[in-house]
Amino acid sequence: MKKMLAFAMAAAMALSLAACGGGGAASSNKGGTSASNPPAASSTPAASSTPAASSTPAGTPDAVTTLEPGILHMSTNAEFPPYEMLDDSGNPTGIDVEVAEAIAKKLGLELKVDNMGFDAALLAVQNGQSDIAMAGITVNEERLAVMDFTDSYATGVQVVIVKEGSEVTMDNLGDFTIGTQLGTTGYIYASYTPENGGYGEDHVIGYETGAVAVQALISGQVDAVIIDNLPAQSYVEANAAAGLTILEGTWVEENYAIGVKKGNEELLNAVNGALNELKADGTFQSIVDKYITAS
Ligand code: ARG
Repeated sequence: MKKMLAFAMAAAMALSLAACGGGGAASSNKGGTSASNPPAASSTPAASSTPAASSTPAGTPDAVTTLEPGILHMSTNAEFPPYEMLDDSGNPTGIDVEVAEAIAKKLGLELKVDNMGFDAALLAVQNGQSDIAMAGITVNEERLAVMDFTDSYATGVQVVIVKEGSEVTMDNLGDFTIGTQLGTTGYIYASYTPENGGYGEDHVIGYETGAVAVQALISGQVDAVIIDNLPAQSYVEANAAAGLTILEGTWVEENYAIGVKKGNEELLNAVNGALNELKADGTFQSIVDKYITAS
């Protein structure tokens, strides 16, 4: 547990940095008590509802510049239920997709979801190939160095999936081989050296998706999978015959936010404002409730 504190602190620190608009030197946040979801009341409206004297007619939201006029491009990796996955017809769906749709609507834009690998989804927004990246993305220091983030919209808890009856525990994970999704914080943190709180690269295998990592667990290529809790639950249920179980306890607790190209303050503020309005008016929660049934 102790080694996980560093991660929790990094996450908490990242969040506090994000809350201050990102960037800057590390600030200390003792105890690693990461703030839970920020209250909806702390919103930064995207377009002021009481516009100062300007040529814009009252009530018209200031048009925000996007890659393609009228379109909000969201890069994602639809392999992360219930945040993003493909429906039976192959269309992206999930909490992130619906929230992004609602944000786009508020901004007078049409959402286009660009589905790709997780690493690619992060890179796309950094390189200006997408307007926003939304993929259950954890805010951390490394990512804050290369992209900007909105306020957090969810807490992500990473857990460990094992086979029922496995000898793997939270404390002896480092003795085993761990499967993760490439590019995720689970992959990155587990790959750290033991001195830095990880298990070393030799103990970690990165797979293209979480689902493939879980298949590797079922086939015995790895002894455990580290992944965010909600996808973990979904994969365990989807593979009921394989007898998988989630170890008790939290591997790391993080915060998800929407990524925007570094320095694009106009878009960041617009998206953040829309997100906070959706939190305040209950839309956000009603989307979450569609996908997450209280357990
Ligand atoms: N929260 C983790 C991270 O940011 C995993 C996110 C994976 N998301 C996905 N859509 N595959 O690294």
